[in-house]
Amino acid sequence: MSIEAQSRRDFLAGTASATALTVFGTAGLSGMSAFATPSKQSSGGEKLIPYGAAVRSDALASDPSYRDAVIANCQMVVPESELKWLELRPSKDEYRFEKADAIIDFARQNAIEVRGHTLAWYGALPPWTESIATRADAERELTDHIETVVSRYRGAIPSWDVINEPLLDWPESASSLRPSIWARRLGPDYLSLALRTTASVDADARLVLNEYDVEFTGPRFAARRKALIQLLRSLRDRDVPLHAVGLQAHLFADRAIDRDGLQALLAEIAALKLDVLVTELDVIDYELPGKIGERDALVAGVASRFLQAVCEVVRPKAILTWGLSDRYTWVPIYFKRRDGMPNRPLPLDAELRRKPLFDVIEEFRRGA
Ligand code: XIL
Repeated sequence: MSIEAQSRRDFLAGTASATALTVFGTAGLSGMSAFATPSKQSSGGEKLIPYGAAVRSDALASDPSYRDAVIANCQMVVPESELKWLELRPSKDEYRFEKADAIIDFARQNAIEVRGHTLAWYGALPPWTESIATRADAERELTDHIETVVSRYRGAIPSWDVINEPLLDWPESASSLRPSIWARRLGPDYLSLALRTTASVDADARLVLNEYDVEFTGPRFAARRKALIQLLRSLRDRDVPLHAVGLQAHLFADRAIDRDGLQALLAEIAALKLDVLVTELDVIDYELPGKIGERDALVAGVASRFLQAVCEVVRPKAILTWGLSDRYTWVPIYFKRRDGMPNRPLPLDAELRRKPLFDVIEEFRRGA
């Protein structure tokens, strides 16, 4: 069925993807350790920070125990890859929404909110985008993509990582942008173009600029925090619509959290009246000792120091981890352990059992 025929109304009514609905049943929720859900738990008046995780459509479809763990624990999900250009746009004139639709359906059926990730990024771009030859072509491609994707999910995705990882790894200033076809063809204007276009398509969507490596001690991280603030200010000065900053928080257990640096960054973000989300928390443990108990405690400790520093300055709008269970994590792709032991970066282990990291997140959701 082509996109035009499948009207948005049909889609939102979920009729078009009845098959997907049946795939994602809701059996077997009982006996599962779960993060507290805001609605049930806030009887005492405490409002919990929503918790969510990156999910994979194939694992949701093929792994019922994992799917049930997501239902039991998450108020939010973010597609790990299904909304990236690489998945959505295998060729220039084609959109592939099946996998993203399946996650939207799963979420709708389980009253789980969906975050969108991501519209303008240097990564996960299909090879054909390298042949975008002119400024006008780039403007049209980026605008068309955002209009098509954001309008499709208007009302279903209330928050988007519009901009992801815009800065160079070690930036000198806000204009040190990560090389990408967008930066090459449009310069820094791609940032405002993407944000303005998203706002024009969905005026209610929360627009987020998402960055990594701003949490740690060291000159590169200090430079990233400085450049990020300059970038946010330059967007603000040009009235570019933006609502929040996403701290990815891929925390390296062998790096020290720069409490003062991070808190100064957060104070600046708050002063710009921007919200903060923790969008991709996990703890990269490849340098940690092998013993499970010791390693899990060290992982929880790193996350606790990070969340402590954050929550003392701002109340994050949400805390999301980049995956829920060690069963499905990107970490070994880039940070495999030398001892060959599986990485343990997430709140639930590969058997979906609760880890100390789970308790730390729970503690800060309650506003520790
Ligand atoms: C990662 C996915 O988890 C991997 O499966 C994929 O191979 C590469 O991308 N920052 C981001 C995420 O914003 O989109 C990245 O996700 C991890 C780092």
